[in-house]
Amino acid sequence: MSIQTLAVLAVVLAGFCGGAQSAEKVQLGFYSESLCPDCIDFANGPLEKAMNEIGSIFTLNYVPWGNAILKNDGTIECQHGKLECTLNTVEACTLYYYKTETEFWPFLHCLDEKIAPTLDGAQQCFSQLSYNWTAVDACLNSEQGYKLDLMYYNETQALKPPHEYTPWITVNGKHDPRAEGSGLIKAICEAYTGEDKPDACSQK
Ligand SMILES: *[C@@H]1O[C@H](CO)[C@@H](O)[C@H](O)[C@H]1NC(C)=O
Ligand SMILES: *[C@@H]1O[C@H](CO)[C@@H](O)[C@H](O)[C@H]1NC(C)=O
Repeated sequence: MSIQTLAVLAVVLAGFCGGAQSAEKVQLGFYSESLCPDCIDFANGPLEKAMNEIGSIFTLNYVPWGNAILKNDGTIECQHGKLECTLNTVEACTLYYYKTETEFWPFLHCLDEKIAPTLDGAQQCFSQLSYNWTAVDACLNSEQGYKLDLMYYNETQALKPPHEYTPWITVNGKHDPRAEGSGLIKAICEAYTGEDKPDACSQK
């Protein structure tokens, strides 16, 4: 069963069993690359605020590719060099094992804020979070990591309109420049169809 099917089932079940009005979570697409300063600022600023204040009404779909280039020989070239490629793959592998935002977000937040975005930093975050570095390290240095990179390449290529910069933010699949800064919470709140909006949605 796919994650999407499970999510739909969960929403349906919540509707039946809870009786409460339940609405689909807003899908927030975060098209990023590991070493881009604006991506890090977005994660540490607006995204962290949104996670804390309205985290219950959206799902984070992090896509680690950004402005990387897939060359004809199949190799990948990254905007900020080799370390960026390595960390993009670390993020892709982490997403493979720690997919849900309650798992992935603490890692990204740790890497971007508490610890510098380096390979050592990633490992320290894993140890702080008690995540399994062995699994991700193996993924990083194998075909598995490369295949995940290509999956995120595909996802980035599929953007309509194509992304022009990073971070590139989509709200329910639509590019929304407002959401790339302080308008993030407003954009998510507006897109949310549920009646039970968090308090932060009505704050100015
Ligand atoms: C960590 O991952 C490795 C490789 O997938 C696995 O062999 C090991 O059992 C895992 N360790 C824990 C504590 O889950
Ligand atoms: C990416 O897309 C291409 C063309 O649509 C497809 O052939 C390839 O299998 C996809 N790769 C991955 C990893 O999803």
